[in-house]
Amino acid sequence: MSSYIIEGGKKLVGETFVSGSKNASLPIMAASVLNKGVTKLYNVPNIHDTQMMIEILKSLGCKVKKNQNKVVIDSKNITKFEIPENLMHQMRSSVIFAGAILGRYKKATFSYPGGCDIGARPIDLHLKAFEKLGITVHQNFGKIICNTEEIIPTEINLDFPSVGATENIMLASVLTKGTTTIINAAMEPEIVDLQNFLNRMGAKIEGAGSNVIKITGVINLKDVSYNIMPDRIEAGTLLCSAAITGGEITLKKVNVNHIAPLLEKLTEAGCKIQIKTDEVKLKAQKRLKAVNIKTMPYPGFPTDMQAIMAACLCIASGTSVIVENIFENRYKYTGELSKMGAKINIEGKTAIIKGTRKLYGSKVKATDLRGGASLVLAGLVAKGTTKVENIEYILRGYENLEEKLNNLGAEIYMIKE
Ligand code: EPZ
Repeated sequence: MSSYIIEGGKKLVGETFVSGSKNASLPIMAASVLNKGVTKLYNVPNIHDTQMMIEILKSLGCKVKKNQNKVVIDSKNITKFEIPENLMHQMRSSVIFAGAILGRYKKATFSYPGGCDIGARPIDLHLKAFEKLGITVHQNFGKIICNTEEIIPTEINLDFPSVGATENIMLASVLTKGTTTIINAAMEPEIVDLQNFLNRMGAKIEGAGSNVIKITGVINLKDVSYNIMPDRIEAGTLLCSAAITGGEITLKKVNVNHIAPLLEKLTEAGCKIQIKTDEVKLKAQKRLKAVNIKTMPYPGFPTDMQAIMAACLCIASGTSVIVENIFENRYKYTGELSKMGAKINIEGKTAIIKGTRKLYGSKVKATDLRGGASLVLAGLVAKGTTKVENIEYILRGYENLEEKLNNLGAEIYMIKE
């Protein structure tokens, strides 16, 4: 296992940039399977999760070449329709391959996906949607076997605007003989990126970014090159690293519209924010003010920023209240923050954070991807040295995090044990 060692107390100052979006790259990499050809992707973040997607693509018979942030996928000769169980269990996004393989071959076998332990994370909405599309879904011993003669276009009302379920329905419907409509679709920017990619490939999809998405089936797709959108959660994480340390940074290559709810909250907390086309400058005031947060589906405050904002609120003046409305178990990191002196009470979906003047370096363990990032930010501002263990969680979703933070004046390095 690897750890980060962080010497706290340094203000973060300077300029850095945002990498490509993990949560846009993963479904787009899966979607490449729909085309019997070559897909060239640029600005793909070099992180564990994209590496895992490459392993799955190769296990299906694709040829994949990666050079830094460029990934070339040749999916002409897919030989398998089953996603390996060991790979499924390591990452939630593996379930998105189901829609892509079904879309092209009308059959797919997979198992329940793994991923960060932030809740039960069922896939009932995915499976119900597949059945509505005329796909037979069998389950035995944890394996899910799907097949059909033909995918029947239809109208699907999602009980919840699930990002993954929206993506899976889009992928399964691209090559049908008719139009599928998703009502109550997820509106996240990553869904828009997936629509843009698929349309570039020859699909006919409209409405992404709204809660109604129409997919009109096509017969052929074509080779495509595509540039992945910037990662809005990494952008938020880097801005919060400046906010928590009282620093001043300029963030480049960011899509400002994607992080509006976060900028709103950082402004309310007292940060001075200046916006240019694809740049954000944040200057923190000497002490953040307490704010209240409710996580909601996009365009509300993103659940993925909940833990990261919570770290900032641990040293704000006043008491903040967070309500986590998306996942039922996304406060595990707070026990670790408490070891650093944070004053946090959890009552069901609500976290009450009483701001303190200081946090203290301690030995803590990452509990999941964003919870781990929260501990890193707390370590940046804590007095003394912090050791964050189990950082494999963090390496899943952040490209060169310690390098970016050190370039801004932090003192953080990785040790392998
Ligand atoms: C995506 O996960 C993201 N992951 C998550 O980011 C993000 O937190 C989440 O969307 C919400 O924005 C990727 O894109 C790879 P959901 P996903 O389906 O698709 C329930 C990160 O840190 N639900 O919108 O799994 C589910 O349990 C990760 O980068 C069902 O009940 O999210 C959850 O409570 C973490 N049944 C809620 O909906 C289903 O069939 C939202 O899930 C599907 C979901």
